[in-house]
Amino acid sequence: MTHTHLPRRAVLAALGASLLPVLGHSAEAPDAWRSSYTPYNGPLKAPLASGPLPVQGRWPEALQGTLYRVGPARRELGGVAMDHWFDGDGMLQAFRFEQGQASTQAPPRVSHRGALLATPKLTAEEAAGRLLYSGFATTLPHAPPLSGPDDLNPANINLLALPARKELFALWEAGSALAVDPVTLQAQGFKAWSPETRGAPFSAHPRVAPDGSVWNFGYVPGSGKLLVYDIAPTGQLRRQHVLTTAQADMVHDFAITDRHLVFLLMPLQFHGQPGMGSPLPHYQWNDQAPLVVLLVDKADFKVQRFELPATGLFHLANAWEEGGTVQVRFVAQPDILHALRHLKVDGPRSTPAAPATRWAHITLTPATGQARLAYPGLAHVEFPRIHPARNGLPTRFTTLLERSAGMDAQVQGFDTVLTLRGDQTPQRHRYGAGWIAEEHVYVPASPGAAEGRGWVLGTAYHWPSERTTLSVFDAQAVNAGPLASVTLPYGLPLGLHGQFVPA
Ligand SMILES: [Fe+2]
Repeated sequence: MTHTHLPRRAVLAALGASLLPVLGHSAEAPDAWRSSYTPYNGPLKAPLASGPLPVQGRWPEALQGTLYRVGPARRELGGVAMDHWFDGDGMLQAFRFEQGQASTQAPPRVSHRGALLATPKLTAEEAAGRLLYSGFATTLPHAPPLSGPDDLNPANINLLALPARKELFALWEAGSALAVDPVTLQAQGFKAWSPETRGAPFSAHPRVAPDGSVWNFGYVPGSGKLLVYDIAPTGQLRRQHVLTTAQADMVHDFAITDRHLVFLLMPLQFHGQPGMGSPLPHYQWNDQAPLVVLLVDKADFKVQRFELPATGLFHLANAWEEGGTVQVRFVAQPDILHALRHLKVDGPRSTPAAPATRWAHITLTPATGQARLAYPGLAHVEFPRIHPARNGLPTRFTTLLERSAGMDAQVQGFDTVLTLRGDQTPQRHRYGAGWIAEEHVYVPASPGAAEGRGWVLGTAYHWPSERTTLSVFDAQAVNAGPLASVTLPYGLPLGLHGQFVPA
């Protein structure tokens, strides 16, 4: 495989090497980036703190709060390394936007803090001086015996914010939610929603219903079970329920409607033993099996099952009840196993790209048992986000990332933020050459504002300068470019998902 010089450096820098100068290591010559990318052995509790950042453009005064983001950040310790995007200890980023002093009409103050999350895994590895535990794609020999999934939990995928309770959780695919102090960013330990579910998987994409209820699920590959959580707005677990189903071997996300839970179960089958090293080699795609849709009644957990032409997927945007149908919007990942196998951080896209992702619509008609899957034509997209208070309600406004045809073929990821607005032509802002865009969130102008009013907020990494920039757009005019942006004095490791918490 051939790597050109600059993109390799770029990708490595984007994924963590850029932290080295900030944390006291000297920058090395580009040829050494691959080896110097990981030796961040600095103290766990050494948060990054930018102080007040100069704002380019005009920051919207009404946009006050914190954008939290999380992602895999540390992938090597003590000479032991992981090279898959999903492997790496979680680092929490907090971009705060505070009101300027009214008396001086000072503009809002924007600042950043970032901290590695002190999970039991990372704490044990720090004590040992090296990575100890196998990851999603890497098996480490001589790993300590496991007492449960949380021994492996890097808290590196997504966040659940319950601002009314001043609670913030960092989430992984296969373990407990990690409670985090929203101000100090310090980890506070794993959450047990009930004695029975202590240590059970609590997936990375919970859905907060408009009434504040939190719905989530957990799964163990190969178990044939989905554990459903129904959590009251008070934070008390109302119900837990186990569904028995085939094809629940990799379930990254789900959706809720007013009356139902919606699971899209792809024919990606796990043939290994949980906890015995990396699970990735034990997944196989079953060409003969369909995409299974489970429509689960929230009231009694009764299941209606539908079948559709097979596709893989990571993320759903939303689902809702409409005129006797259930509408589902998601991003299809036709060859997800290819994507999973090649999401490496050790360099540019050295293998053929997977088939393009596709924006997809499902219509379920429960009365007749019919299901229909349609692809309206939008491709090369991922990271769908909607109005945070419209989970399960009809949505016409969706934010996505898109990979433009002009993006450097050697660089993974996306370079464009896109907004879907009902039947109107999508709006796009392409960051341009040298940029990797990260997930952008939609922040409504106010809780009661019409859908689509407000802001789109997100980060992008500029690899030639090794800096991360946060941009805010008018949600109705993303194609006009950012209203304002701030550039950090350092680059952050590329993250996964984020949540905005209003002040
Ligand atoms: Fe995700």
